[in-house]
Amino acid sequence: MKILAIESSCDETAAAVVEDGVRILSNVVVSQVDIFAAYGGVIPEVAARSHLEVILPVVHKALDDAGLTKDGIDAVAVTHTPGLMGSLLIGTLTARMLAILWEKPLFAVHHLKSHIYANWLESGTSQVPEFPLLALVISGGHTQIIYMREHNQFEIIGTTRDDAVGECFDKVAKILGLPYPGGPAIDQAALHGDKTRYKLPQPKVEGLDFSFSGLKTAVLRAVQAELKLPITTPSYELKEHISEQQRNDFAAAFQETACNILINKMKMALDKHPEVKTVVLAGGVSASGALRKKAKEELSGTGVKVCFPEVKFAGDNAAMVGAAAYFEVVTGVKETDPYKVSIAPRTAISKD
Ligand code: KG4
Ligand code: ZN
Repeated sequence: MKILAIESSCDETAAAVVEDGVRILSNVVVSQVDIFAAYGGVIPEVAARSHLEVILPVVHKALDDAGLTKDGIDAVAVTHTPGLMGSLLIGTLTARMLAILWEKPLFAVHHLKSHIYANWLESGTSQVPEFPLLALVISGGHTQIIYMREHNQFEIIGTTRDDAVGECFDKVAKILGLPYPGGPAIDQAALHGDKTRYKLPQPKVEGLDFSFSGLKTAVLRAVQAELKLPITTPSYELKEHISEQQRNDFAAAFQETACNILINKMKMALDKHPEVKTVVLAGGVSASGALRKKAKEELSGTGVKVCFPEVKFAGDNAAMVGAAAYFEVVTGVKETDPYKVSIAPRTAISKD
């Protein structure tokens, strides 16, 4: 089954053709990151307008790259939530229009589900996850531990009580004067830093929930103290005072702390669920080299398989949407009425 998938939930316009949920026939991603690097974050109105400009060429290229026309496509899939309202509308309306014109089934897929299913896409190093599994979903908007007994069954067993971990990477990067998006910039800077030079606190949150807002403030206060500046100094002024070595050391210390928080909660989750066979990392933050290394070293020792998507499928892309839609088909989830598809949650795995 060949699915044309579309993703436009934030600042990437993407289309892909995926066969039987695993084989990638094409994968096109147009990122708006260059536009938003200048602002240090996404401006929703600008993102929506940029999606509108490129969405049809992106869809055409995905078909061309796969060597297919509409006749070779069996279904259309699209991210319908969560995400930026204007951005989601461009993708959902495009997919709905194509499904109606081409008379194809339409699948409206939850974004976090897609991130998890990026782990099934065929790629050089991937191994197939086995159930039951625990998914650590870590993105710009979410931080959740999800228990999956089977395909398409999701139980949230841990979630952040405030900021998402990706958001924390982005905000800490801003404090340190590193560019947007913060995650890759911190990953790079940390390679040249000493993670032991600054001590940052671990939040004390009971159970499997997370908290990241305190860590962000702890970095802010530690930077102000290190630079001998009052706590009233606005965060955007700090980059003018910080040296490259201090920046790299803070990046390394923060990354180490954030990864430890995530891995420690996964260890707790595995203790509670000894029947689990696989841990999958999912979402933009799963691109982190430091996190992947730690997950492999510290979680696979417990006898579970540790999977993560190829780096290019960790961030937002449409191939993962095609994978998730296929596994909806396999498990009998009904297609969406193209006249009714909206951006309202349907099979929600989060409260967004
Ligand atoms: O999944 P994603 O592409 O978009 C959302 O659904 O939110 O995740 C984006 C997040 C951003 O916060 C970005 O800073 C983070 O993923 N990220 C990383 C890395 N690459 C991207 N965080 C840590 N290390 C990375 N290498
Ligand atoms: Zn995402």
